[in-house]
Amino acid sequence: MANKNAKVGGTMPTTEKPGTEKKLTRESFTDALNEDLSREYQAIIAYVNYSQVLKGAAYMNIADELAIHATEELSHALQLANHIDYLGGMPSVTPKPVKTSEKAEEMLRFDLDNERETIRNYRRRVKQAEELNEYAIAESLRTILVQEQDHLVSLATALGVDPPNPGIAD
Ligand SMILES: [Fe+2]
Ligand SMILES: [Fe+2]
Repeated sequence: MANKNAKVGGTMPTTEKPGTEKKLTRESFTDALNEDLSREYQAIIAYVNYSQVLKGAAYMNIADELAIHATEELSHALQLANHIDYLGGMPSVTPKPVKTSEKAEEMLRFDLDNERETIRNYRRRVKQAEELNEYAIAESLRTILVQEQDHLVSLATALGVDPPNPGIAD
């Protein structure tokens, strides 16, 4: 029976959604780690700013926590830069854009959204590192991921919401 859905073109690669099924190579992995590094710079800047700008008695505990997050994000950035250099890449020097606000709740929402995006990406990156047999990098990414999940939970707690499930990046 003729299959009307049969792909024509024989040896042509079948890509349903161009761009979503990117081939994993050491180069594409290094580029992705550089995106993660830019996200870490963004996090450092946001936490430095928000930890000092955040006002209100209700938010003093979380302000202290944000200052600790800032130092943890710096340690993540250093680890990523080390992996990128090891893979033969040049560590990025550009942060992703940082939003500012005068409103405490808005700042915490920005952080929550960023942490969710960060976790989505590191979950994917651990799988990719293992696919490339880079188990030491995978291990390092896992320890970073543990801290990012702590960040997410402390932000959600401060906001009085359940921690969102970040899922995994495509
Ligand atoms: Fe981080
Ligand atoms: Fe974080």
